[in-house]
Amino acid sequence: MSQEELFVNPGQCCSGNTDKRSRSRLGLIVTGVVGGSLVALYAVAAPFVAPALRKVCLPFVPATSAQVDNVLKVLRARSGTLVDIGSGDGRIVIAAAKHGFQASGFELNPWLVWYSRYRAWRDGVHRSTSFYISDLWKASFAPYSNVVIFGVPQMMDQLELKLSSELPITAKVVACRFPFPTWIPECTEGEGIDTVWVYDAKTFKSNLHHGLPRDTFTEKEIKPDSWS
Ligand SMILES: C[S@@+](CC[C@H](N)C(=O)[O-])C[C@H]1O[C@@H](n2cnc3c(N)ncnc32)[C@H](O)[C@@H]1O
Repeated sequence: MSQEELFVNPGQCCSGNTDKRSRSRLGLIVTGVVGGSLVALYAVAAPFVAPALRKVCLPFVPATSAQVDNVLKVLRARSGTLVDIGSGDGRIVIAAAKHGFQASGFELNPWLVWYSRYRAWRDGVHRSTSFYISDLWKASFAPYSNVVIFGVPQMMDQLELKLSSELPITAKVVACRFPFPTWIPECTEGEGIDTVWVYDAKTFKSNLHHGLPRDTFTEKEIKPDSWS
């Protein structure tokens, strides 16, 4: 645009600049919103996907209400401390706290831990529950006299060794859906995918001390493909 044209029609040059500026501001806003949404989506989804990338894949599959009832049924004569290893959305910990346990959950996924704390607060059991963002393989379960685990078959032999060496002799362990490979359960409750197995530390710790081979026991056949 020549000097002359500018002199005759000065508004034309400025409105062009204003258009350009507002277009680039809109571009920045759109980039910010899209970028921010992607970062937020990644932050939420990554902790749910991460377990699948570990050596032992233990995904978030919440216990059914029949499963929770079975856990409470087999522990009805017990009290004191309880831990749910891989506590998910906190449903077992919260149900146990409502039945008088001082209950804790160890969970890798921070979103699930924050949600569990919120649920415990909403249900009025925040004083008798604790939730830790923690890797189960790095935590010690020595302080707990009742232990609940809804794991996967691939991790159960390693967990047997860990719990055998850590737990007090007075402890009971409840396995949901998948039993331990060599421990002998003292009883079971429920059927199919809702089955829970109960183990007494006195038994599995004495077998450990007597050095019985890990394949000494034959247990009920397990069907580990029943995740549904
Ligand atoms: C099968 S779900 C069981 C959830 C809960 N216990 C229930 O019964 O509803 C297993 C949970 O373990 C968590 N998890 C996976 N790997 C873990 C690890 N290394 N340490 C702690 N928690 C883990 C998963 O995020 C998932 O929430």
